[in-house]
Amino acid sequence: MYAAFRSIGAYVPEKVLTNDDLTKMVDTTDEWITKRTGIKERRIAAKDETTSDMAVKAAEKAIERSGLKKSDIDMIVVATISPDYFNMPSTATVVAHKMGLDKVTAFDISAACTGFIYVLSIAKAFIESGMKKNVLIIGAEKMSAITDYSDRGTCILFGDGAGAAVICATENKKEAIIDLHTASDGSLGDFLMTPEGGTGNPHQNELKAEACFIQMKGNETFKIAVRTLTNDVIDILQHNDIMSSEITHFIPHQANYRIIKAVGDALKLNDDQVVLTVHKYGNTSGASIPMAMNDLYEEGNLKAGDLMLLDAFGGGLTWGSALLPFAGK
Ligand code: ACO
Repeated sequence: MYAAFRSIGAYVPEKVLTNDDLTKMVDTTDEWITKRTGIKERRIAAKDETTSDMAVKAAEKAIERSGLKKSDIDMIVVATISPDYFNMPSTATVVAHKMGLDKVTAFDISAACTGFIYVLSIAKAFIESGMKKNVLIIGAEKMSAITDYSDRGTCILFGDGAGAAVICATENKKEAIIDLHTASDGSLGDFLMTPEGGTGNPHQNELKAEACFIQMKGNETFKIAVRTLTNDVIDILQHNDIMSSEITHFIPHQANYRIIKAVGDALKLNDDQVVLTVHKYGNTSGASIPMAMNDLYEEGNLKAGDLMLLDAFGGGLTWGSALLPFAGK
């Protein structure tokens, strides 16, 4: 049995936060943000809108497009670093309940911006082992809830949103996910972290909102992201004997245009192979790859059989890449 990437869906919150809006909040300029990141605006969820609310909207689209019934889903895995609740219940179980799927296997994983590639690898493994048939994977983030809007080094980067996909068992090898890499280096965990509130640094008193805010060594992360991602995508292509010219769509994690450009250039990709949404959504962490893929799909540019290369890098540190055909309609 193989695992096929059957469908994609996403949800984008209504509220737009532009670079000009940010200039009223911190000492920055539209020019600096555009030049250093490629970001022009990002979406911000409503105050009472949770990560699971966004996840459900993305999931419903993905299931509808898969041609399956909701009740066919036998596992839900959510990648998020901005869960509805700190420890439990998991966002996946909240999503399952909101969708009326209370008996389904459901759990979250934490791999920051690499989350979607991690959940894809989990879906592939469960399906290929015969344990599950139709796995709903979701990357959903309310990054605005864990962002410090007085820190110009991070608040210009992040946005909110959700993306979801249905991964199904198939006997057709042409539809199969070809390969996946996932990796980590915990020695560099302090490059990107929310340092307080967990057992590593427990709160003695009341937990403050600031405890959950992201801290990032941006420049150090940038350099290692470019080097690691370039090596990783070259490896996965070589390992599978695939030339970069055969890739229909390179759908990278949307953290920074300069990172995407450096990796694309190393692979000698043409602009029309590279999918970009960083200008309009910013960095939505684990949601960014499926949100970008969904835009491609809704624009009518993602067709059955198209060969996709995905890559991502994020907190942990974690990184990964995936090579797969789109097996939807
Ligand atoms: N506006 C104006 N100036 C700024 C801003 C801002 N928003 N932010 C920083 N600066 C200043 C700095 O203070 C510094 O000033 P100095 O030279 O006087 O000290 C200068 O700009 C350069 O700062 P750098 O941090 O070196 O800028 P850099 O070119 O590295 O860009 C950025 C910063 C955009 C954050 C970049 O490093 C980056 O994208 N890093 C990678 C992020 C990433 O990929 N993270 C992984 C995924 S996220 C996750 O997993 C949740």
